[in-house]
Parts: sequence; C-alpha cells; structure tokens
Amino acid sequence: MNTLFKDAPADPSAPASTAAELFSPLVLPNGTVIPNRIEKAAMAESLAGPGQLPDARLARMDGSFARGGVGLIITGNVMIDPLALGSAGDVVLQKGTDLTTFKAWAKAARSHGAQVWMQINHPGRQTMAALGQPGWAPSEVAVDLGRHSNLIAKPKALNEMQIRQIIQRFADTARQAEAAGFTGVEIHAAHGYLISQFLSPLTNLRNDQWGGHIENRARFLLEAVSAVRAAVRRDFCVGVKINSADFQRGGFDADDALEVVKMLNSSGVDLVELSGGSYEAPAMQGQTRDGRTLAREAYFLDFARDISKVAEMPIMTTGGIRRREVAENVLTQGVSIVGIATALAMEPNLPLAWSEGEPKDGVFPAIKFKDKMLASLAHMAVIQRQLQRMGDGQRPLADASAIFSVIRDQLRNKFLARRYRSWSKQQA
Ligand SMILES: Cc1cc2nc3c(=O)[nH]c(=O)nc-3n(C[C@H](O)[C@H](O)[C@H](O)COP(=O)(O)O)c2cc1C
Repeated sequence: MNTLFKDAPADPSAPASTAAELFSPLVLPNGTVIPNRIEKAAMAESLAGPGQLPDARLARMDGSFARGGVGLIITGNVMIDPLALGSAGDVVLQKGTDLTTFKAWAKAARSHGAQVWMQINHPGRQTMAALGQPGWAPSEVAVDLGRHSNLIAKPKALNEMQIRQIIQRFADTARQAEAAGFTGVEIHAAHGYLISQFLSPLTNLRNDQWGGHIENRARFLLEAVSAVRAAVRRDFCVGVKINSADFQRGGFDADDALEVVKMLNSSGVDLVELSGGSYEAPAMQGQTRDGRTLAREAYFLDFARDISKVAEMPIMTTGGIRRREVAENVLTQGVSIVGIATALAMEPNLPLAWSEGEPKDGVFPAIKFKDKMLASLAHMAVIQRQLQRMGDGQRPLADASAIFSVIRDQLRNKFLARRYRSWSKQQA
C-alpha cells in the first residue's frame, strides 16, 4: 500500500498534528476506511462512448487520480435514466446495462487503494435543449439563464408515478454500481439537478406530499436514500451531495440545509458533501445571485462548520480549495474531508506532492470573460478538456486556451448530441 495511505509519520520539520490530519484515515459510519482526507470531487467528464457506456478513457483518467494519491474518488455524474441526460456525453447506468466497461473503470480507479464512488444523478430541468427531451421537474419552472436560456429544455412536471419510478431508478443504478465493483455511490442532491429542484422552494411549487415545507421538499431525497440503502450491502457506502444554499433570493437556504442534514442523520448515510448553487447561480464556482459573498477559498466552510455541529455522519466540503494550508484549516473546523475538483484536474499529483512535503499550490485556469455565464461555461470546457487529455494518457495543459476549449466543446457536444438523439430513439 502507498505511504500516502498510512498515518503520516512524525516529521520534525513540519507541524506534525496538521500533517497527520490530512493524511490520516477516516472511518465512516458503516466501517469503511477512506485512506486519507482528500477527495477527487465529481467532475462530469463527457466521456461516454456509444450507447452512453463508459469510454476506456474514463478508466485511464481515474487511474491517474488514483496514482496521484487521493483517498476518495467520486466519478462524474452518471445518469440513472437513458431518457434524462444533463449533457450528451453523460454515462448512463440502469438495470440490465452490460457492466463490462463499468467493471474496468472501477478496477482502474481502485488500483491504488482509494475508495471509488459513483455519483448518481437525474438532471431534472437542467437538461440541454439539443438532446430533444423535456426537462422532467417538480414544477414547470424554466431555467433562467438570461439570453442563454434557450440552451436548456422546457420543463414538464412529474406525476406521482413518475416520481416513484425515478426513486426506484436511483436504487437500481446503485445496485448496478455495487455489482460493477464501485465501493459506494454518491446521490447528487446539489447544483440544481432534480433532487435539488425538489429541495428548493423556487423550483418546487407543488402542494402535494412532495412540496411545501422542508419535510415535504426533502421527501424525494430521503426516499431515494432509503431505496438505495435497501438495495445495497451495508458495507457499500452511500453519500449525499447537497447545497449549503442555492444562493438565489427565496431559495433553499442554510436553515433548510441544516434541517435536511438532521433528517439524514438517521438514514444510513455515510458522508454528506456540501457544495452550493445551480446553473442559474454557480456558487460552486464562487458566483452567487443573492448578493452574498463567498469566502475566497473554501467557499462553503462557514456553512460546513455549522452543519458539522448537527451532523452525525462525517461532512466534506468542496469548492475553492487549492492550497494545503486551506485544506488543513478546513479539517480543523470540524469538517472530516476536503473535496477538490478543479485543482486536481489541473494537477492530479497534488496529494502526492503534499504528502512528500513539496510546497506546491493547486492552480485554477485563468478565465477572463466578462459575461459570467460564458466564464462559467469556459471553466467547465477547460477542465473537461484536461480530464479528456488524462483519458488519452496525456498530462493536463497548464495554459489551455479558454476560447479554444469553448469552441472545441461546442463542436464535440454537437456531435455527441446527434449520436445520443439517434440512440435514445431506441430507448423510448
Ligand atoms: C468540468 C466540471 C464538471 C463537474 N461535474 C460535476 C458533477 O458531475 N457532479 C458534481 O456534483 N459536481 C460537478 N462539478 C462541481 C465540482 O464537483 C465542485 O463542486 C466544484 O468544481 C467546486 O470545486 P473546485 O473549486 O475544487 O473546482 C463539476 C465541476 C467541473 C469543473
């Protein structure tokens, strides 16, 4: 086993207590041990091959993250329904899907001792119009991206039977992930996707048992967790990613998040990851739409500190973390594990460097677009390009051009959407 995954030996030249903290194991409620406190956060890779199955590049890419020394790898979101994708490059896993390529993916990602969880998701209304599907949502509230709104499909409200079927799909996909060799799943309930839409009073206008006060808005999440937990072994981990807030006026707020975590306390969840925002207010990239300012680094740390006080499971926070000092500071605040996305896509060996005492900081790509929506798109495009390079066995590019990455991304997505539309006709 890699030395990264042992308790760090006392190093006289470094503050031993903090070093031991970041590279010490974390024991989860189900007894699973995460070898250290650094998570590779979920990043949609846009690397589905034909039939929305994992392309071999996913295994190679996660093999690089594994070698780089993270303790927990969470895959980019995998969709639970072939007729509900967020983007055309999304992988789909459902009952009956052939597991061959999923097994190869899990095996490569587990090759260095990290825990490897599949993030499972339903996009709800956040689905691209180019895919030719409605956005199935709690209520018919369209995504507002200003002059870019027509990129997103029109929403349709789900009925009771459809809600039940989607909850069952979360369970079916989790069982398949377990059969493929992943060590857990993370249910995506953040970033404005379907479960987050149920949680938010801005997008959930229902007056049945699925809408209204927070107990009702959280019902979808709790039922999905309970269906997933019942479908898998106890030693298979179940995590949940939620927003600490929507960062939109009148949206899901910090008090709601506290209530949801209290409700999750008795649900058999092994880890809660805190993030924030949605397509409309990309707080996960440090932008808000309610006038609130996020910390410059570790955006959601204040929320995570408060939530840790009521949570009976370990808490992880993701967003804006790229320096070792910041990661260590997060751990001193009652948070058990730090999630890192962008900085690891730019340098997958960051944990290895930190464990060897190298004074190395993670970097974020320089994006200079004034239009916030375009800046957000460009960030995603640059990072996905890095992930795809890793899939091809190449190193990430230190100075990837934002404009080139956006154009490349648009062209790729056009091709992938055409391929998906013809495949999805056979799935209906
Ligand atoms: C290219 C890209 C794809 C992402 N895809 C996902 C995803 O599939 N699921 C998810 O929960 N978050 C996703 N995120 C958000 C990250 O997990 C993370 O919450 C966010 O980037 C903030 O962390 P960071 O500042 O370390 O990048 C994605 C981020 C990027 C850059």
